[in-house]
Amino acid sequence: MPPLTTDSPDQPCEDRVLLDLWQPVGAVEAFPRGRVRGDQLLGVPLTVGRSPDGEVAAWRRRDGDSPSQVWPADGPVAPLLPTIERYGHVWTSLGTPRPLFAIPEADEPDRRLLHAASVMVHTSAPRSIENFLDMGHFPFVHTDVLGAEPHTEVKDYNVRVSVPDQEILATDCVFYQPQAALESTGGAEVDYVYRVPHPYCSVLYKSSPGHEGRLDVIALFVQAIDQEHIRAHMWLCLLDDNQPDWALRRFQVSIFGQDKPILENQVPRRLPLDPRAETPIRADKSAVAYRRWLGQLGVRYGVLPGAA
Ligand SMILES: [Fe+2]
Repeated sequence: MPPLTTDSPDQPCEDRVLLDLWQPVGAVEAFPRGRVRGDQLLGVPLTVGRSPDGEVAAWRRRDGDSPSQVWPADGPVAPLLPTIERYGHVWTSLGTPRPLFAIPEADEPDRRLLHAASVMVHTSAPRSIENFLDMGHFPFVHTDVLGAEPHTEVKDYNVRVSVPDQEILATDCVFYQPQAALESTGGAEVDYVYRVPHPYCSVLYKSSPGHEGRLDVIALFVQAIDQEHIRAHMWLCLLDDNQPDWALRRFQVSIFGQDKPILENQVPRRLPLDPRAETPIRADKSAVAYRRWLGQLGVRYGVLPGAA
């Protein structure tokens, strides 16, 4: 059998489309004042930290840099990368970033905004996004929480690449869930909308118990450490204000803990873009659209490119 990949998993990313985007590097609260930490993004070693004045900064780590986790007394010596703080996370870019995608609900005054978890997973960023889009696994992986037998059918839904936002939009998704949210008191048909506004980020909208006509927002921001290792950051923008933070976090972490071994057992770790590589079924319509979209954008990092 020929090798599945020709390049090393840890070689630095050269995809212009990914370099010129904001990429997440951790929750805002993971960067206390006066501290720095070593990290990696798209195969590039970084130092990311917060100055004693409260400014976030990121720069490329070089051989021989101090391993100290204290903010350098004379400030960073390397050129700074751009940084922003948005949606509960710190974002940086290795190129010239286009504006970050919008999540308008984040600015609604009655929303509960919460970083839920950051989890290391031995998989590629595109595999984790595709898994996030897949409703078909709910009854089998999140049994009796996000799905249950015999309610295994994924009903037909719509998928399109939305213009002018240039993102994948899956609408009219409905799935029976025994416990769709921590606040749920019983099973219900739950409405879903999925957005993929960034090759490595997805935003999910779902019915909110007790808030007819409005939707909870759950976002997955994936930091590609290299082509086959990620840190998955989960962020909540909820209408629920009854549950304590720890309970909401525990619910999300328990769900993600069920996905992690599935993701880590997928072979190959990088997402094949060739439509013949893995047999899609109707339920995978969003996965098919996502793979095609990555190819059209010119994403090669974390994927196995399709036939020309
Ligand atoms: Fe899952």
